[in-house]
Amino acid sequence: MRIILDTDPGVDDALAIMYLAAQEDAEIVAVGSVHGNCSAPLAARNALRVLELVGLTVPVAVGAARPFAQPLQTAEFVHGADGLGGHAGPEPNGTVVSESAAEQLVRLARAHPGELTLLALGPLTNIALAVLLEPDLPKLLRSVVVMGGAVTVPGNITPYADANFFHDPEAADLVLGAGFPDMTLVGLDATEQARAGAEWLTAVGALDSPRATFANRLLDHYSGFYSQMFGTHTCTLHDPLAAALMLEPKLATYREMPLAVELTGTHTRGQVVSDQRLIASDAYIATKAGAGRVAVKVAETVEVQRFLDQM
Ligand code: BDR
Ligand code: CA
Repeated sequence: MRIILDTDPGVDDALAIMYLAAQEDAEIVAVGSVHGNCSAPLAARNALRVLELVGLTVPVAVGAARPFAQPLQTAEFVHGADGLGGHAGPEPNGTVVSESAAEQLVRLARAHPGELTLLALGPLTNIALAVLLEPDLPKLLRSVVVMGGAVTVPGNITPYADANFFHDPEAADLVLGAGFPDMTLVGLDATEQARAGAEWLTAVGALDSPRATFANRLLDHYSGFYSQMFGTHTCTLHDPLAAALMLEPKLATYREMPLAVELTGTHTRGQVVSDQRLIASDAYIATKAGAGRVAVKVAETVEVQRFLDQM
């Protein structure tokens, strides 16, 4: 599978990159960074750092510096001031390319129509910009997998919204309504099942290699945050699960439904709004139920143990 990665590393983003690098059937063609867990320029340097650690040379483009319609908000309280839990280390050797992440995505999608899968692990600002630059983007990509949203479960950053959608609700709504014919949403519904528990953390902690050492530093930081917040020695592998479901969709079950994102709710800005009625046909979805929106595959039940074993 040939993949364009859009990401905000970010501890779990970094783990997702490491996971992808270890999969023979995954080729990361290009990376775009986006604001979210940290600033977009820092996210790009962090992507370079992780790619260099795993021995991959991939172009990295800096993406959107802020969301469409609200001030920039980053998540140092989860991912640390350097975005990698204090373990970013020295500057990367490589440098970022000169085009923006949205331009890179559009250029590559046009050059390889129907070939590329987009994996979006951060706020959807770059993807929304790319749709505005190239309205045919939905037809040019092979498929899209998005980590974001909480359809049937509570949010994380607010009671109703996950961090990726909350950090740019307008972009998320634009992308969900853009008509991508093959889009999968890996929201908190699925990722909250993908908890690394004490046993898994101990097993991974015993691994000894430069990659394992880095991964364990990230996991120590990340599980430390969970211990502080929730009193449990766990952490949730949001972005790695999205990467895994992209490569092996059968690791989860899905339900198709049209989706939108709440933009004006006093308490619910950034919440996924889903049409969960049992809908008979695509024609019905297109006309009434989804306000013209194409249904999205929402990941539901995950084979957690198999995923954790792969990780
Ligand atoms: C998402 O938000 C970020 O903190 C994580 O990297 C993940 O992509 C989970 O809500
Ligand atoms: Ca992320």
